Amino acid sequence: MSTDQTDSQYVKIFDTTLRDGEQSPGISLNAQEKLEIARQLERLGVDIIEAGFAISSPGEVEGIGLVAKHVRSCTIASLNRTQKGDIDASWAALQHAERPRFHVFIATSDLHMEHKLRMEPHAVVEATREAVAYARSKVEDVEFSCEDATRSRPEFMAEVVRAALAAGATTINIPDTVGYTTPDEYREILATLYANVPELHEATLSVHTHNDLGLATANSLAGVQAGARQIEVAVNGIGERAGNSALEEIVMLLRTRHAVFGMRTGVETREIARTSRLVSRLTGYPVQPNKAVVGRNAFAHEAGIHQDGVLKNRRTYEIMDAESIGLAHNELVLGKHSGRHALQKAYADMGYTVEGEDLKRAFARFKDIADRKKTVSMLDLEALLDDQSRDTSERFVLERLALRTATGESSQAEVTVREGDAVHTATGVGDGPIDAAFKALGEIVTTTATLREFNVNAVTGGQDALGDVRVVLEQNGHTFTGQAVAPDITEAAAQAYLRAAALAAAGIPSRTTNDTI
Ligand code: KIV
Ligand code: ZN
Repeated sequence: MSTDQTDSQYVKIFDTTLRDGEQSPGISLNAQEKLEIARQLERLGVDIIEAGFAISSPGEVEGIGLVAKHVRSCTIASLNRTQKGDIDASWAALQHAERPRFHVFIATSDLHMEHKLRMEPHAVVEATREAVAYARSKVEDVEFSCEDATRSRPEFMAEVVRAALAAGATTINIPDTVGYTTPDEYREILATLYANVPELHEATLSVHTHNDLGLATANSLAGVQAGARQIEVAVNGIGERAGNSALEEIVMLLRTRHAVFGMRTGVETREIARTSRLVSRLTGYPVQPNKAVVGRNAFAHEAGIHQDGVLKNRRTYEIMDAESIGLAHNELVLGKHSGRHALQKAYADMGYTVEGEDLKRAFARFKDIADRKKTVSMLDLEALLDDQSRDTSERFVLERLALRTATGESSQAEVTVREGDAVHTATGVGDGPIDAAFKALGEIVTTTATLREFNVNAVTGGQDALGDVRVVLEQNGHTFTGQAVAPDITEAAAQAYLRAAALAAAGIPSRTTNDTI
């Protein structure tokens, strides 16, 4: 299949997991986590990564900058209002990118102009012209978006798009900001825009849809039918409110129904499942079991008649192969007698190169887990490697955790933590073992940070599943995120707490709690 981007059937995938996706309530990714996701998006083969909204905080500039420095084969974008300060912040973040893009937006609906922007329409046109020209003075690749486009007057939107194109915009995005439009209506809006602005044919038309009425994917498809050759998506469909169009849905839709739509993307679909798991783990947003393409049940068959049909011929009830999204069976790969080479080979089969010091650490960790858990699956190995990539600067190391807990009584925890050469011990009493452990740890790390979020996920099914815990602490308007994986949930929680506390002690926030667009 061709991935030639000049091909008229090629649809660019613009991934906004790290920007619109990160605007989902409760998600805050630090710079390292952004980089981890961006690297996976690069393996997935997206064309453009919108890495963030630079002006929103210094941490955001750092995160976008890190992605721009290390992810070289995708275009890296940063979002901007039509203000010079925004564009300067994006430039600070993107100046070392191989292919930088500025994404400039302003609202064009009467509702937003009057009540939110408090700007006259002519001022919106002028702001567009000035901001796009300023952005173009720094980079060649400038995208312009008419926010709330689907509720904008068509003639006025055409005037703004004309101004953006004249000032040098190379991509025009027509977002359905509030998830209001329908496929027929969206096709009509885009056809009218092409008729009103014929020079739009010289640029790339992009669509950006939200899922408030469950129409995000259908609307993105309608956009492509109307001529759009860029689709803006987020992994697992995360994003503002009900989310954005889901990457996995639109990519698999275009692939599965290629005979009908004739469109292609550059996405390596076998990386989809892994990307979905990584985003879910780092954002703390679980994927609903019946989610299209990446849900746990998307390839499960419950009814006897279905199972019978699938056993006779998978195509009776399956329109896609599980393998095509990278869902190899989660078979047992290793046990406690497996050696270092077997571990390295298992990782290599999963597409990871693990060697040297990393292999030594991974093997020690694997042995510890294999002693406590009968079998170690592919998903366990993936979670352990993720965990290892996170704990490079371990300031506080949990040496021992002892718990006493009984129904109807307060729990007690005793913890021993190593900090460099010093070893600290403390006790805590709380409502349940995790509360008790956090109280004890709080005595040692002496932080004033308070617990803002706590999420637990099981890496696999089964009683001996690894627990994956994410803790978000808040201190002076900043949040600090720690995550850890361990066979015991309380142990994972304690380690995640210590990681978040170490970031708080070092003043390395995930984001400022008053960050807003
Ligand atoms: O939904 C929207 O309108 C946006 C723009 C900033 C592109 O996210
Ligand atoms: Zn959006």
